[in-house]
Amino acid sequence: MKIFTKIIDLQTFVSAQKAEGRTVGFVPTMGALHEGHLSLIARSRKECGLTVASIFINPTQFNNSADFEKYPVRTEEDKKLLENAGCDVLFLPEKEEVYPPGYDGPRMDIGFLNEIMEGKFRPGHFEGVIEVVYRLFDIVKPNKAYFGLKDFQQVAVIRQMTAHFGLPVEIVPCTTIRETDGLALSSRNMRLNAGERQEALFIYHSLILARDLASKLSPAEIKAQIETLYARSSLRLEYVEIIDPKSFETLEQNWVEGAVACIVAYVGEVRLIDNMCIYSCD
Ligand code: PAF
Repeated sequence: MKIFTKIIDLQTFVSAQKAEGRTVGFVPTMGALHEGHLSLIARSRKECGLTVASIFINPTQFNNSADFEKYPVRTEEDKKLLENAGCDVLFLPEKEEVYPPGYDGPRMDIGFLNEIMEGKFRPGHFEGVIEVVYRLFDIVKPNKAYFGLKDFQQVAVIRQMTAHFGLPVEIVPCTTIRETDGLALSSRNMRLNAGERQEALFIYHSLILARDLASKLSPAEIKAQIETLYARSSLRLEYVEIIDPKSFETLEQNWVEGAVACIVAYVGEVRLIDNMCIYSCD
């Protein structure tokens, strides 16, 4: 695996590979890699001639500085995982390489997606995600980019961004990878102690419950039941929403195909996010 820290070196290598006819698959990450990330690498390797991963903990997408400071850094382990997964290129830039002094990326109005769920509870987060993903796409110039559906709303925001700027990148959403007991893989899981790791399973179980109830209750009734359950639990629920996967509108009385339940909850200090299709899923 080639490792580049400078844009010029990365671009020289990638453009030579493109000139030889390889399509470029890109997996942007913030490191602390797990099987979820490696599944994105595997998908890219299947579909593209060259797979590029990046590790960059983007400061501009953290609305909470403590969260940024505590974000796990595992660069040496990550390099080994990527190498073993058959990743061709790792882009590992310093902050100044991504955001040189005076850098001012293009902006867009995110609109509705910025008013709900992650947009509402993490002000500035999606602006930061758009800033870095736009910048990374501009540096790597991939044909396809792979994102996990655990961050369901993020995938929608990135799709909106590529459409808005007319970027020639296909966004490939990839299934959430779970532990055998159901916990969605997340770099943040590394911050949980053994007890919290068990408590975190409540999120998965509440999504399964929502799915089981979907044939009997309305979305609004399920939301209310989930809120009651969390109020009695050790987790602090930030939100539960049952949404239309296309419009992201909250569902109240009626179901739509592919309705998704989205949950964010704190286990101790750790903020975990998960979602599941709960109605008429393929
Ligand atoms: O999902 C993430 O890990 C990050 O938001 C991303 C897409 C790598 C941008 O920093």
